[in-house]
Amino acid sequence: MPKPKRHLFVCMQQRPPGHPRGSCGAKGCNEVFDEFLFQAQQRNTFEEVAITASGCIGPCGMGPNVLIYPEGVLYSGVSRADVAEIFDKHILGGEVIERLKAPADVW
Ligand code: FES
Repeated sequence: MPKPKRHLFVCMQQRPPGHPRGSCGAKGCNEVFDEFLFQAQQRNTFEEVAITASGCIGPCGMGPNVLIYPEGVLYSGVSRADVAEIFDKHILGGEVIERLKAPADVW
């Protein structure tokens, strides 16, 4: 596989119900991850975009969290409905989506 143009890390951390940190797992990260894979398939981007399921990224209470490199942009509170926009605007277009960015004091 050639070096990807962009690499996404989708937090898939699970924690037990009631855990004080919460988790992206409790907030729907599985459907977000599946949607990224679906959108990649639709666009046939597997040669240029890497998608990795990751452990905890940090701001657990703000999940689902998605980290995109090389920019190092963290999107928080990502829903399945946001994924196509992230794919087209940021991953393929290079445009950061300000409304989904984690606050500056978090990331
Ligand atoms: S559980 Fe996802 S950032 Fe911590």
